[in-house]
Amino acid sequence: MGVSAIKVGVIGLGAVGERLIKIMQERDDIVLAAFCDTSEDRLAHMAEAYEVTETYTDYEELLVKPEIDAVYVAVPPKYHEKIVLRAVETGKHILCEKPLANSVTEAKRMADAVNNSELVHAMHFPLNYQGGINRFEQLVQEGGYGEICRLNLKMHFPHWPRLWQQNDWVGKREQGGFVLEVGVHWIQLMQRVFGEITEVKSKLQFPEDPEACETGIIAEMKFADGAEVLIDGLSNIAGEEQLEFGVYGTEGTLMIRNWRELSAGKNGGALKPVNGEDTENKDLIGEFVKAVQGEPAQIYDFAAGYKAQVVLEALRDPAHDGWQKLEY
Ligand SMILES: NC(=O)c1ccc[n+]([C@@H]2O[C@H](COP(=O)([O-])OP(=O)(O)OC[C@H]3O[C@@H](n4cnc5c(N)ncnc54)[C@H](O)[C@@H]3O)[C@@H](O)[C@H]2O)c1
Repeated sequence: MGVSAIKVGVIGLGAVGERLIKIMQERDDIVLAAFCDTSEDRLAHMAEAYEVTETYTDYEELLVKPEIDAVYVAVPPKYHEKIVLRAVETGKHILCEKPLANSVTEAKRMADAVNNSELVHAMHFPLNYQGGINRFEQLVQEGGYGEICRLNLKMHFPHWPRLWQQNDWVGKREQGGFVLEVGVHWIQLMQRVFGEITEVKSKLQFPEDPEACETGIIAEMKFADGAEVLIDGLSNIAGEEQLEFGVYGTEGTLMIRNWRELSAGKNGGALKPVNGEDTENKDLIGEFVKAVQGEPAQIYDFAAGYKAQVVLEALRDPAHDGWQKLEY
C-alpha cells in the first residue's frame, strides 16, 4: 500500500459493485476500507471474499466515518440521490454508478449539490476508457469520414434482463429497462463526441404487465449541427444480442459493435477492423484516484451525468409523440 492510498467505502455490493471492487483490490493506491449493503447475506459474503472488516447495512454509518476519503455508490438508480446527497454533506469524494439518478429532478439536485464544491464527483461510464472508443473519437475529429449526417444505435437483446444481471429491478419500468441501463452509455458517448442533443422524438413498446419495462423503442434525436440519430431497440427476441453504433459521414462509415469492436471504411468500400490499442487507454479507477489526489484526470462528472439524464428521460418518458426540445 502506498503512503497516499485513498480509503474507499463501497455502498452497494451487487454484480457491478463487485466488478469495480475487484479492480480496486488489485491497486496499491486504494484501500477498501468499508462495505455497505442492505442485504446482510451479501454483505457477509463480500466482506469475507474481499477481507473487509468494517461492514454496515446502513450507509449513514459508513458515511460518517471520518477516515473514509471516498465512496463508490453502486446501488440501484432510485437510491443514488439520497446516498450521494448525504455523501456530499459528509465531505466524501464520490464515484457514482450510471445513470446518475432515476429522474432529471434528482439528477439536477445531485449536480447542484457538488457544483462549486471541492469534492471529486465522477461517473462510471466505462466506454470512455476503452482504447477503441478513444480511437473512434480521434477518427471523427480528424474529419476523414466527412460531415457526419446520421448515427444509428441498435440495441437488440434476446434476454432482458441479460443473463448476468438477474435482479429485482432491471426488468421493471420504475428504474430498469435497456434504454436506461444500456442506452445511457451511448447517450453520454454521443454527447462527449458530437455535442449537445437538442431534440428527441421517442416511442416505446411495453408488455401488458404495467410494472414491466419496455420491450421496444423507436426514437430519433437531433444534434445542434443538424446530424440525426436513429435508435432501434428490442428485447425478448430470437437470435444473438446485437449492440451496434454506426456513424455515417459524407466520406465514410465508423462502426462500434459489441461495446468495443471498432471498424471503419470509406463509402462504397468494406468496413475493416480498426485497432484501438494505439491510443491511450486510461482506466477509470486510476483516473479517479488521481482526481482525489488533486492531479489532472480524465473523469466524466455529475454535469455529464445530468446531461445524459435529460436525454434519457425524454426517451423513456416522452411527453408526446412529436419532437421534444430539450432544456438542460
Ligand atoms: N457502469 C456500468 O457499466 C453498469 C452496468 C450495469 C449496471 N450499472 C449500474 O450499477 C448499479 C448497480 O447495478 P447492479 O447490477 O450491481 O445491481 P444489483 O441489484 O446487482 O446490486 C445492487 C446492490 O445494492 C444493494 N442495495 C440496494 N439498496 C441499497 C441501499 N439503500 N443501501 C445499500 N445497499 C443497497 C442491494 O442489496 C444489491 O446488493 C445501478 O445503478 C446500475 O444502473 C452500471
